[in-house]
Amino acid sequence: MIIDGEDKYVMTVIMAAGKGTRMKSEKSKLVHKIYDKELVKRVTELAKQVGSDEVVAVVGHLREQVEAVLGDTVKYAYQDELLGTGHAVMQAKKYLQGKKGKVVILYGDVPIIRKETLENLITKSYKNKEYATLLTAIYENPTGYGRIIRDEGGNIKAIVEEKDANMYEKEIKEINSGIYCFDIEELLSSLEYIKPNNAQGEYYLTDVIKIMNDKGLKTGAVIVEDNTEILGVNDRAQLELLTRVLRMRINAEHMRNGVTVEDANSIYIHDNVIIGVDTVIHPNTTIKSGTIIGSNCEIGPNAYIREGCIIGDNVKVGNCVELKNVKVGNRTKIPHFIYLGDTEIGEDCNVGCGAITCNYDGKNKNKTVIGDRAFIGSNVNLVAPVTLGDDVLIAAGSTITKDVPSNNLGIAREKQENRPYNKK
Ligand code: UD1
Ligand code: CA
Repeated sequence: MIIDGEDKYVMTVIMAAGKGTRMKSEKSKLVHKIYDKELVKRVTELAKQVGSDEVVAVVGHLREQVEAVLGDTVKYAYQDELLGTGHAVMQAKKYLQGKKGKVVILYGDVPIIRKETLENLITKSYKNKEYATLLTAIYENPTGYGRIIRDEGGNIKAIVEEKDANMYEKEIKEINSGIYCFDIEELLSSLEYIKPNNAQGEYYLTDVIKIMNDKGLKTGAVIVEDNTEILGVNDRAQLELLTRVLRMRINAEHMRNGVTVEDANSIYIHDNVIIGVDTVIHPNTTIKSGTIIGSNCEIGPNAYIREGCIIGDNVKVGNCVELKNVKVGNRTKIPHFIYLGDTEIGEDCNVGCGAITCNYDGKNKNKTVIGDRAFIGSNVNLVAPVTLGDDVLIAAGSTITKDVPSNNLGIAREKQENRPYNKK
């Protein structure tokens, strides 16, 4: 990570050995998805986004599932018995040893922390030369969390777990999020001193704060501004809540950037979507990761924009339209009941109601290419692979199986015949 123009070493250790009993699931909690991404994957990507040089996942329970999701994007440490958060970090010792720099501790089930919050934590830790920098929060109801003990000067002294806290300590509203930035060497040496002599009989990572203080090493904290960032997932209701929080956060970002959202409650815009100014998103619209939409477009209602779409400016993607891997030129109109997949469509086109691409032949996905100023009539089937030139007109109801050159009318349907008919 670059701090003040200097490249500083940062490692991230992700705790991912937990059981997740309350999910009532055959699957590891960590591979449940928030939007379309596994919890542990989202946390891993976050660690990479803040510029971690190495990421280590401490896995245990159902570790093969976590490993299947993360593959070789991280290194693995194993914790066979859950003996506490300190014990979990100790399992990553072989990766930490001999390194100079910082280690960030994250939980695999705390997935919506902001990248900026972590950057701020690491930067503060480096700049203030702190051996431990905690991410804390002020909670009206702090029950269940570790409490932050400060002296009269406001300096952090220790963290006391709920189960070990006395009645005065229980009154403290500043809680430990469980996310920290440590000096690697001092963390390793402090971990040698932690003992499971507490109410839970666990090796508490939190004990290193007092150990560092006793050694006279400087520690500090960053208080998180938005408490929702440090929420964790323990059951499916919390998973739903966090998905909602993330969704509203993303919607708000787009609105701040000049996008009109009619009803944020019904809009599902995933991560990493770019939308130009003055585009309007109508209700019940889902836009998947990686989509790029230009300015001044109308999207929805009931639009489903899936992976791999790049949409130009002044485009209309209307009611009940599904797009997958589609490139759309400027000013093209795709107004209602349309499916386009694996398609490139040029500028100033109009796609009629009910038109679809038949992009899948049961084995392969095939491509449809449509030039500029094409007019695709209603209820047309474009059987891919197929290419339509510029300025083509495709007659309504046609099933197009052959290419249509520029400036041609493509028509492929039975001629109408009228026969005498007597309604008795
Ligand atoms: C921990 C902190 C507490 C903090 C809280 C925030 C300690 C001792 N306490 O408490 O101060 O307020 O987090 O949520 O650290 N895990 C492992 N291996 C273990 C134990 C835990 O991988 O041996 C993982 C869990 O799966 C979970 C995370 O670490 O993702 C936190 O564990 P949890 O038992 O929930 O911590 P708390 O006791 O709540
Ligand atoms: Ca616990």
